[in-house]
This record gives sequence, structure tokens and C-alpha cells, in this order.
Amino acid sequence: MENKINEIRNNALAAIEKADDLKSLEAVKNEFLSRNSEFNNLKKGMKDLTPEQKPVIGALLNKISIELSKLIEEKNEIFYKKELNERLLKEKIDITLDGKYIPIGHVHPLTQTINEITTIFNHLGFSLVEPKYSPEVEVEKFNFDLLNVPKEHPARDVQDTFYCENGDNVVLRSQTSNSQARQMLNSKPPIKVISPGRVYRNESVSARKNNLFHQIEGLYVDKNVTMAHLKGVLNEFTRLYFGQSRPTRFRSSFFPFTEPSVEIDVQCIMCQGEGCPVCSHTGWLEILGAGMVDPNVLRDVGIDPNVYSGFAFGMGVERLTMLKYAIDDIRLFFNDDVRFLKQF
Ligand code: PHE
Repeated sequence: MENKINEIRNNALAAIEKADDLKSLEAVKNEFLSRNSEFNNLKKGMKDLTPEQKPVIGALLNKISIELSKLIEEKNEIFYKKELNERLLKEKIDITLDGKYIPIGHVHPLTQTINEITTIFNHLGFSLVEPKYSPEVEVEKFNFDLLNVPKEHPARDVQDTFYCENGDNVVLRSQTSNSQARQMLNSKPPIKVISPGRVYRNESVSARKNNLFHQIEGLYVDKNVTMAHLKGVLNEFTRLYFGQSRPTRFRSSFFPFTEPSVEIDVQCIMCQGEGCPVCSHTGWLEILGAGMVDPNVLRDVGIDPNVYSGFAFGMGVERLTMLKYAIDDIRLFFNDDVRFLKQF
């Protein structure tokens, strides 16, 4: 019995000696110390020994199993450290290497202007129109009829307005004012909204005109809204958009859906009013159209003009952006030239 035990011990010592990595050491552990090992079977056989043999063999088996466990544990520790160090060396990242340059996109200048103007009007109490009241593909009813634009008005002419081919009076909207009509028809005063979006006009493209551009429409309808409110709101807007000290001028004008109507000019930002090619030597730049909502328009959308009044305004986003940054060609906004776009 004792011989058998010593033979196993010697085999185990040799195998431990021979193991040269974590894996082979694990195999040795399994072979000699696991539940099914020869060594363990000897332990199980102890019950058949004589009372005299039991304590002697028991002590010997215990001593050897502690000895082998300890040797395996020691070697395991050494291999573990060695393999860890090798892995750390192999997987090392050189943080001094140059990174890869990934260009980051950013917000288009027209979108920036729309966001800026929207924020200004939000602060003045205007909320953003619901998109369903501001469609780009529109019927004549909202683009013209409900805005008091007579059937024979030149703006309806195919020269200006893109008509869809199906012949159902469907147009690409020529102004964001369509959203005024839809908003008033579908809600009750007080109404205080702005509506930014794309508009389309059948014009020949030049440095000043593109047949797709953007407008921002505003509408305020309530009891006792007056021209003084219009002036106050739009002066505050120009102050916030162009800066504190830029003078404005209100000129009388005409739009079919407002009465009275005005156009608003700011002092030329190039020449400070001296007169230059940008302002056609007038010293002023036109920035928006506005007026008191025509009583006919209110009546047609079911709002009583004897109880309510309101004002509306519309401005061109490209024009306002061009004036602010001294850009001289509207086509630059639509050419997708990153050299231009990344300046904003
Ligand atoms: N819709 C007009 C235009 O496109 C601008 C405008 C809007 C004028 C609202 C008055 C009131 O020129």
C-alpha cells in the first residue's frame, strides 16, 4: 500500500516538474487530485484497512495531498503572472500614435438662421405652428383663396406658381402664408404662432433669386391687437437679430391679405445708411412684409372681425442670412460646397 502511494507521489512530482504552462498544470491537477484520481480512490479504500493501518496510511495520504496541492499552487502562481505579463505586452496600445481624422458635420446656415429667429419669437410668446398646418404641397384654397388673393391676381400666374400636373388646383406653396389660413380655420383666438418652411416660385435662378427658398411666417390674432403691437414685436425682433442700435423704417405697402400693409427696412448693414451698391444707394434694406390681417380674411376663416383683430408678417430666411453675413449669392446655400458651409 505504502509503495503504491509513493509511486503515485513520484509520478505526480515528475508531472508537476514537467508542466510548463497553466494548461498543462491544470491537467496534472486533474490527473492526480481530482475526485476520480487514483489517489482519491486509495482514500476511498481506507475503510477496508485494519485499525492499526488506518491512522498511518491516513496521515500519509493527507501529507502527500497537502504537499502536491501546495506545489501545484506555487507553480500556478508563477505561470499566471508570466502569462498575464505576456498578454499585457502584446495588447499594449500606443497612445502616442496620431488618431484618425473624422470630419464632423454641422448645422446648415439657413437652419441656424431659422433656429435663431424661432428662438427670438419663442421669447416673444410665439409658438411653433403644428406641421400639419404648414404643408409644402398645397391647394389653391389655402395658398390664395382664403388669403384674399383674387382669381385673376398675377401671383397665381403659372409664371410665378408651380402648379401640379393633376389639374386639381394643387400647387407648391408660393408663400408660408398658407399656414395662416390653415391655423385660423382650425383654431380659435388667441393665436400666436410662427411657421418656418420652404416655398417655391417659378423664377429664373440668379445670384438674388432661387426657385426654392425659405420663409418664416408669423401670426397674432386676439382681441384688441393693433398696429402698435405689430411695430413693437417687429422692432424687438430686428433689435435682437441685427443688434441694438440698427434703425428701422416702416413703409406702407400692399398685400392682398393684410390691410394696412407695411414693409420693414433696416439701415444698410454695409454702409450704415451712407448709400452703397448693396442697398442700391438708398441706405436701407428691406427685410420683411407685414400688416394687419384683412377683415375679409378673418371672416372667411370664421373669426368675427368685429371681435378680433390681428397682425401677420413674413420674411425671407435666405435674405436675412445673406444680410447678416454679407453673402452675395443665394445659390451658395444650395450648392453643398463644404468650403462655403464650414465657415458657419
Ligand atoms: N407672404 C408675403 C410674401 O411672400 C409676406 C407677408 C406675410 C406679408 C404675412 C404680410 C403678411 O411676400
